[in-house]
Amino acid sequence: MSVAICPGSYDPITLGHLNIIRRTAKIFDEVVVAVLHNANKTNPMFTDEEKVDMVRRAVSRYPNVTVESSDGLLAEYAKRWEGAVIVKGLRAASDFEYEFQMNLINKKLNPALETMFLTASEKYTFLSSSVVREMAIYGADLSGLVPNEIIDDIQKKAKLWRAT
Ligand code: PNS
Repeated sequence: MSVAICPGSYDPITLGHLNIIRRTAKIFDEVVVAVLHNANKTNPMFTDEEKVDMVRRAVSRYPNVTVESSDGLLAEYAKRWEGAVIVKGLRAASDFEYEFQMNLINKKLNPALETMFLTASEKYTFLSSSVVREMAIYGADLSGLVPNEIIDDIQKKAKLWRAT
C-alpha cells in the first residue's frame, strides 16, 4: 500500500493546500495530512486542535485522507509508515529553494525518506496561509481562498485578533 504524507503548518489550510492533497490522494492509496510545527512561524493564529479540525472538515469528502498533528520532526514522524513519501506543493522558485533544503535535512535525518513535489495549480500560485490570515484580519472576503467549511472559523478568530 502506498502512503503519502502531506506535511505543513496549515495555519489555516487554503484551497492551494487542498488542491495538492486532492491530487496526492489520486496517486497514493493513503494520504496522511500532518499538521506540524514550523519553528520559523512562532505566532500561529490557530491551535493544533483547531488546525486539525479545520483540515478534517476540508478533506472529509476524500475517503483515503486522514489528518493528524505532531510536535516532532517530520523525518521521525514519517517512520510510522514504511516507505511513506513526503509530498509538497511548489508555487515558485523561492518555494523550491526552501523545500530543497528541507528535503536534504530530512534525508540526513532519515535516509530512507523520499520527497516528491507537485507544482501548484496556476490559480493558487499567489495563495498562502499568511495572505489568508492578513486578509481575514482586515475583514476581506475569503471565498475562493479557503474551503467554504472553514470561512466562519477564520473570521471568528480574526475578530478575536482584531480585538486584542
Ligand atoms: O506549511 P509549512 O510551514 O511550509 O510547513 C513546514 C513544515 C511544518 C512541514 C516543516 O517546518 C516541518 O517539517 N516541521 C516539523 C519539524 C521538522 O522536521 N523540521 C525540519 C527539520 S529541522
